[in-house]
Amino acid sequence: MWRGFPLFPEAASTIASGVDTIYLFLVALSLLLSAGIFLAIFYFAVRFRRRHPGEVPAPVHGSLPLELFWSFTPFVIMMIVFGWGTSLYFRNYNPPAGAMEIFVVGKQWMWKIQHPEGQREINELHVPVGQPVKLTLATEDVIHSFYVPAFRVKMDAIPGRYTSLWFHATRPGRYHLFCAEYCGNQHSKMGGTVHVLEQPEYEAWISGAARGRSMAESGEELFQRLGCFTCHRADMPGRGPVLEGVFGNPVTLQDGRRVIADEAYLRESILNPGVKIVAGYRTRMPTFQGQINEEQLMQIIAYIKSLPPKGRLDTEP
Ligand code: CUA
Repeated sequence: MWRGFPLFPEAASTIASGVDTIYLFLVALSLLLSAGIFLAIFYFAVRFRRRHPGEVPAPVHGSLPLELFWSFTPFVIMMIVFGWGTSLYFRNYNPPAGAMEIFVVGKQWMWKIQHPEGQREINELHVPVGQPVKLTLATEDVIHSFYVPAFRVKMDAIPGRYTSLWFHATRPGRYHLFCAEYCGNQHSKMGGTVHVLEQPEYEAWISGAARGRSMAESGEELFQRLGCFTCHRADMPGRGPVLEGVFGNPVTLQDGRRVIADEAYLRESILNPGVKIVAGYRTRMPTFQGQINEEQLMQIIAYIKSLPPKGRLDTEP
């Protein structure tokens, strides 16, 4: 809609026009109100100017209809802006089910990206056109912010937790990727390119020669190397809960709470095993804080996600 108009970046995602429309609405509303206020000041200054020295104006007794008018009009306008903005916000921050997943780690000063298939890239992101893509963001150090103006999406990567962001690219092309949170003296260089490819091109790229092991395969290798398998065993009750089929399902904790085993739960259980202990187990697990980085953590989680349910789940009493 705004191609060629230099104030606006290209619009290349499904929400871009919605964001631009509400932005323009807010600008227009502000201009209209400002113009009204200035016109009123000018009109009153002329209309009620002092015409001769010692002039005393007639007393004002107020007007209920006028009070109601200027109380309710802004209220209604604000509620329109609120409702509109909220619906756009929820649409913008709830990835649709079945969105393709990609994992992003911010680090001073680069974006490290891994695809579940095993492709990894730095400061480049390849995605297919016409398909929702969900990014899971983490950071190795400070707060960064993943920002693609052409998609009108921006999300912080925050130490100690996962955040996510999604978009649905509508036009193939190359788009700027920025870090939008000041993160140190090379912050301005922390950016790159998002490549939106046609589906066949994307297929060719993802199965390209540079491809290594999938994230789940790398995660399995770590699972073996770090000795996780000695306690988390599928074939017999071990010292730790069975992990097969645990992802996405409720887990009952020692204190009776039930939580969903999502990425954040798995992440916390690996880094701070004592925080949420599964009912029936004791804290024997050491922390892996400092031993694995965010990318490896994502790989282990990808491996746990890939484990199919096997027999009875002892996390589900
Ligand atoms: Cu990372 Cu600014």
